[in-house]
Amino acid sequence: MRWKTILVTGGCGFIGTNFIRFLLEKEGFDGKIVNVDVLTYAANPGNLEDLVERYPGQYFFHRVDICDSTALREIFEAYPIELVCHFAAESHVDRSIKNPRSFLETNVMGTFELLEMARRYNVARFHHVSTDEVYGSLGPSGAFSEESPYRPNSPYAASKAASDHLVRAYHKTYGLEVTISNCSNNYGPYQFPEKLVPLMILRGLNWEPLPVYGDGRHVRDWIHVEDHCEAIWLIVNEGKAGETYNVGARGEMENIELVGLICDILDEMVPPPRGKRRRDLITFVQDRPGHDRRYAIDATKITEELHWRPRRTLEEGLRETIRWYLENPQWVSQVQSGEYMRWIEEHYGGRR
Ligand code: NAD
Ligand code: DAU
Repeated sequence: MRWKTILVTGGCGFIGTNFIRFLLEKEGFDGKIVNVDVLTYAANPGNLEDLVERYPGQYFFHRVDICDSTALREIFEAYPIELVCHFAAESHVDRSIKNPRSFLETNVMGTFELLEMARRYNVARFHHVSTDEVYGSLGPSGAFSEESPYRPNSPYAASKAASDHLVRAYHKTYGLEVTISNCSNNYGPYQFPEKLVPLMILRGLNWEPLPVYGDGRHVRDWIHVEDHCEAIWLIVNEGKAGETYNVGARGEMENIELVGLICDILDEMVPPPRGKRRRDLITFVQDRPGHDRRYAIDATKITEELHWRPRRTLEEGLRETIRWYLENPQWVSQVQSGEYMRWIEEHYGGRR
């Protein structure tokens, strides 16, 4: 395997967790993974707890804030990091509207600190995990390509756009070998239930109202998180330094249609009492300020150059995901009860 020691940032979050599991469970993977995560509200270290015993000598965790250059330096001194896969971020658009500061701190300054370390310690490849939101909003037709102009509309999107530009600048100015992926909306196991898909699954199971913003006709382009992880792995191994790759699985759907589909699958898997159906829980609520109308990804580049293909359709992926939430009630109750927050307090002395 090309990469012997990989630094993953934000590995206790949704996509980072799936990425680390994907790598360690991958046949033939014999590298070391060093996960640094500051453990915000969105992190669940329990996601990866079993890995320490299952993969002795291969998986290491350190509670580190990527904005803390001293702590980061200790990591780079302790491990011969060859590849950085940078997931750590504040990731929720609604939170960025209420409190943009932490988005600027982590997403911009945190990325800067990491880039500095990567440069000083001669890291061979720095992969930046980014979002399609940097491109802004689409009209009824067309899709974002790697050539689309940057037009971020939320503080979250603007902070990710700034970090993308920094990563690119470190390639052009210092010759750091970087790649960037701009991906569409992920769904799948271990997603914190503030995001649309897990929120609707868990509220639907509890027969709680399902809040849909505005008229519900906003379109997102959905991709299963494992398909995203495979794309990232392909990019770090076969992608060209200095290049950006858009990642999306042709999973465009209006929010109202998606929430309806989740309701129907839930009704099928957990049949409702006679005369009830979960679609009746849908409630239109006030729209998100600056709410982007439509995202869609043109994934021609990664498909043609790296031969990446998503493995599931949206409906298949949603069924798999709903089954996962049904089969993991302990994870759900931990997240909903804040039990893992207490666990963090016990093990690490409180959270940020
Ligand atoms: P998440 O919010 O679930 O996880 C983020 C993780 O980063 C958490 O574990 C958190 O504790 C950690 N973190 C936050 N601030 C940190 C700091 N200062 N130092 C160290 N760790 C810190 O996010 P996610 O959905 O897994 O997204 C991961 C990455 O993928 C982000 O960069 C996001 O912008 C990008 N992305 C997400 C999606 C999506 O649909 N979720 C789509 C495209 C791109
Ligand atoms: O496109 C990639 C981005 O997708 C990532 O970069 C972000 O990190 C990730 O959070 C996600 O951003 P969105 O804002 O698109 O995701 P969210 O799940 O918050 O919302 C999806 C859509 O559903 C959006 O149009 C807003 C709407 N929505 C969301 C929530 C939470 C609702 O209608 N009701 C809700 O309660």
